[in-house]
Amino acid sequence: MIDSTDRGQARAVWHELLVYAADHVPALLLVEAVRHLGAVVRLPRVGYLVNDPEVGKAILEDSGAFTKTGPGSMGSMITQVVGENALMNMEGPAHQALTAKLHDLFSAAYLDVVSRQVLAEPLARLRRELVAGRDVDLVRFMHLLSGKMICHMLGIAVDQKDEDETYERLWSVGARLTAPVGLTTTRLSDTEVAVRRAQFEDLMDHARGSFQRNDPRSDSIIQRLRGLGMSFEEVKGVTAALLTVGTQTVSATVPRAVALLVDTGQLALLRTRRDLRTSAIDEALRYVVPAPIMLRSVEKTSTVAGHEFKAGHRVLILAYNLMKHRRWFPKPRRFDITRQHHRKVKYLWFGAGSHFCLGFNLAYREIGAVLEVLETLPGEVRVVRRRYAHEVLIPTYSSLVVRLDPVAKKKNADDGNPAQLGEQHSAGEVHLGAEADRRKREVGDGRAHAEPAQPQRHEAGSGQGAKGGQE
Ligand code: HEM
Repeated sequence: MIDSTDRGQARAVWHELLVYAADHVPALLLVEAVRHLGAVVRLPRVGYLVNDPEVGKAILEDSGAFTKTGPGSMGSMITQVVGENALMNMEGPAHQALTAKLHDLFSAAYLDVVSRQVLAEPLARLRRELVAGRDVDLVRFMHLLSGKMICHMLGIAVDQKDEDETYERLWSVGARLTAPVGLTTTRLSDTEVAVRRAQFEDLMDHARGSFQRNDPRSDSIIQRLRGLGMSFEEVKGVTAALLTVGTQTVSATVPRAVALLVDTGQLALLRTRRDLRTSAIDEALRYVVPAPIMLRSVEKTSTVAGHEFKAGHRVLILAYNLMKHRRWFPKPRRFDITRQHHRKVKYLWFGAGSHFCLGFNLAYREIGAVLEVLETLPGEVRVVRRRYAHEVLIPTYSSLVVRLDPVAKKKNADDGNPAQLGEQHSAGEVHLGAEADRRKREVGDGRAHAEPAQPQRHEAGSGQGAKGGQE
């Protein structure tokens, strides 16, 4: 007999399947088919497909032998559209130098202060809307939240009166710019490049003003790079990378994470066990795997755990499969926010080695902030409508409408004013007064954080091991 928990798990599996089926059927079928065929599978015209977490991690950590810039790599296609300096199309000293210039702006301590300033208003708005009994589309909300945050960090000014529309537009231009390419595609056609370049220039129109402002006191990313002597042409690649990745990843993740929590009934558990928030985010990221495939090009023939990779070929690290490896993740299709992830494979959903996700802290900050609102509402949220997205790189919902459960709301209303209950834990509670100077001072304060410590990046040869449809 199926109990309600199993039914919830089955519902979650079903919706997750539909999220992929909406637009990624051939890739989904291929990836599922090769999952049980061994640690590494060689497929003509596609490349080496990696299913094993340890093999995948070893490849990601060896950027001398496996690069993001070789023939057929994603980096080479990124360069075709946005030019150099996009981090994801860089290797070696130039990549290390650019990353080093940005690292403190993505540190937990810095983000702690910035996110309080920037996220407080939208989070308070989310709470108010839900407490008032209104339906909220979490997809649209995440376009706003993630757009606002990354624009602030880059220093892109957005007019308050049409903020929502601007962030929505930035998200959709970013989605078109990063629209998926076929698994066998190794180079974009001229037409494809021209179409994507137009979208790239569209995004850059938003960034140009912020570059031209020339404010040496500003701690925005664009001004910092300008201060280091980079021209606008040189800043464009990294700006486009941050603007697109910073909005697409978290916007795709949060609605799916919330749907998983609601479908499996584990939002109720989280509401009583808030200490589980970080492990709930970890499990959501394992389950959702926002970067389901990582591409590399074999620079020199290498053997990893007994598997030979020949130079000149491509490697597709199937993170989707790594995260379902039974040895590391028993009952992988079970979404369980109390699951303990082994340290060897934990955070592999953020990559490993020198290209480890720069937005690690930012992602935890943004996802955690939304969960905090949902945990502290005067009642449970439920999903009232959902649609699955088409033509997006990261499979997700195009709409996930949630509502505060009226029964729970009424029950809580009997205990006190629901609006007040909500406000007691309001995101507006956080202090908004920190100024730019103070922000700088607070970087490196070593304050306590809900987020886990970020595994350090490491460069190849450092010899230090791992531094790192509608319902
Ligand atoms: C749901 C959250 C996220 C996940 C799961 C994620 C995952 C990843 C992964 C797997 C990589 C490495 C790809 C590879 O090695 O081929 C990566 C790189 C990167 N991520 Fe994230 N990411 C997330 C959010 C963000 C955010 C919010 C930003 C903010 C700007 C960001 C910025 C970057 C950048 C710039 C890189 C390239 C780093 C480099 O090549 O040096 N990510 N991310």
